[in-house]
Parts: sequence; structure tokens; C-alpha cells
Amino acid sequence: MPGPFSRAGVLAALIALLLACAWPGAAHADPAQSAQTARALVPSPQKGKGDACVADTDFMRRYHMTVLNHQRDDTVHNGIRTKQFSLKECIACHAVQGEDARPVSIESPKHFCRTCHDYAAVKIDCFECHASRPESNKAAQLPTGHGDGAVSALSRYLKGKGQ
Ligand code: HEC
Ligand code: HEC
Ligand code: HEC
Repeated sequence: MPGPFSRAGVLAALIALLLACAWPGAAHADPAQSAQTARALVPSPQKGKGDACVADTDFMRRYHMTVLNHQRDDTVHNGIRTKQFSLKECIACHAVQGEDARPVSIESPKHFCRTCHDYAAVKIDCFECHASRPESNKAAQLPTGHGDGAVSALSRYLKGKGQ
């Protein structure tokens, strides 16, 4: 029977402590600021380019997953391609610049799609095939092997018809 100071118990306590320290509010645990801290923890994605999204912003917040998935089915299975909810366009318009002044990929927590997903613990597999940042040039159109993993994965998918 594990006692109160079992290895697992100590480990759990350590992890809890580490988490407490990593919590953004913990370092400045000023009670007067706690309301503000709580607000700051809500994700605030960077605004896209231009004035408006491809549909009403509120609609997009709630239903982007639905329109994206529908289009994915339409495109892949029926060959229909409407431009309105193109994932490529989302990525282009919602690109977030990194420190090197280039758009960040999905590896970065600053990536538009991750701002909310990290917060809501949503996991998506889209970027295993799709590019997570705008393509800078034609090299990205249809890949020939080199390039990043996402692009080659899409290439393999297209050639191998889906394994
Ligand atoms: C196994 C690889 C793969 C995965 C995973 C995948 N897709 Fe795709 N997707 C494709 C291929 C192939 C096409 C058709 C080629 C194209 O249009 O770029 C496509 C096309 C699309 C299109 C239409 C083209 C565009 O850029 O708008 C959308 C939208 C889309 N996918 C959304 C998604 C979303 C959302 C996810 C994650 C939930 C996802 N896909 C995951 C392979 C994939
Ligand atoms: C031409 C530029 C453009 C394209 C393309 C675009 N968006 Fe947007 N998007 C915006 C702008 C600008 C806003 C902020 C609008 C506002 O403040 O009301 C926005 C807002 C959003 C929001 C709400 C963010 C928040 O602050 O809560 C989501 C979610 C979103 N877009 C998802 C998408 C998805 C998914 C796609 C692709 C299907 C897409 N957008 C394509 C420009 C774009
Ligand atoms: C404004 C916050 C926000 C932004 C920005 C955002 N998402 Fe989401 N997304 C969510 C939430 C919240 C969910 C989970 C909704 C649910 O479970 O009902 C979700 C779910 C999804 C799903 C479905 C996941 C599943 O498990 O079925 C897909 C696909 C998706 N988002 C794609 C995207 C893509 C692609 C982007 C970037 C272009 C993006 N989202 C940006 C909030 C956001």
C-alpha cells in the first residue's frame, strides 16, 4: 500500500507545484489583479487581415469546424470546390508573424488555430496534410518530395490515394 510519501504521491505534488508556478497568474498573485488575470486567460486570437471574415465572425467562432469539414467532404469526395470556406484562405488571412517576421506554423502556440484550441484542449489533424502557414511561392503548390513534412504528407496522400 502506498503511504502518503510514496513515490507517486511526491511526484504528483511536484507536478502540481510546477503547474502552479507555470500558471500565468501565479507569479503576480496580487488579489487586486485576479479579475484581470482571469480575463487574460481567455484566448484572444489575433485579428485576421482586412475587416471581415469569410462569414459573420460570431458564426465563424461557433461553426468553423462544421463548414470546414463539410467542404472537406465535398472537395475530397465530390470534387466540388467553393472558395468561401477554403482552409488555404483561412491560413493565408489569419497568418501570425513570428519573431523572424515569417508566419508561424502550427508548432507555435501563437498560431491562429491554436489560440483557442490549446485553451479548449481541441486537437485537430488537419495540418498533418495541410500547410499551416501561407505558401510563400510555387514550391508549395504540389510538392516534389522536399519541403516540410505537412506538404510531403499531402503529396504522399495524393499519390497513394489515402494511406
Ligand atoms: C490525410 C490528409 C488530409 C487530412 C488529415 C486533412 N485533409 Fe483536407 N484535404 C486533403 C486533400 C488531399 C485535399 C484536396 C486537395 C486540395 O484541395 O488541397 C483536401 C482539401 C481540403 C479542403 C478544400 C481545399 C482548401 O484548402 O480549402 C478543406 C477545406 C480541407 N481539406 C479541410 C480540412 C480540415 C478542416 C482538416 C482537419 C479536420 C483536414 N482537411 C484534414 C487531405 C487531408
Ligand atoms: C480575408 C481574410 C479572412 C479569411 C480568408 C478568413 N478570415 Fe477569419 N477572420 C478575419 C477577420 C478580419 C476576423 C475578425 C473579424 C472581427 O473582428 O469581427 C476573423 C475572425 C475569425 C474568427 C473569430 C476569431 C475571434 O476573435 O474569436 C474565427 C474563428 C475565424 N475568423 C476563422 C476563420 C476560418 C476557419 C477561415 C477559413 C474558412 C477564415 N477565418 C478565413 C479574416 C479572415
Ligand atoms: C475563436 C476560437 C477558435 C479559433 C480561432 C479556431 N478554433 Fe477551431 N475550434 C474552436 C473550439 C472551441 C472547438 C471545439 C468546438 C466543439 O467541440 O464543439 C473547435 C473545433 C475545431 C474543429 C473540430 C475538432 C473536432 O474534434 O472535431 C476543427 C476541424 C477546427 N476547430 C478547425 C480550426 C482551424 C483550421 C482553425 C484555424 C484556421 C481554427 N479551428 C481556429 C475554437 C476555435
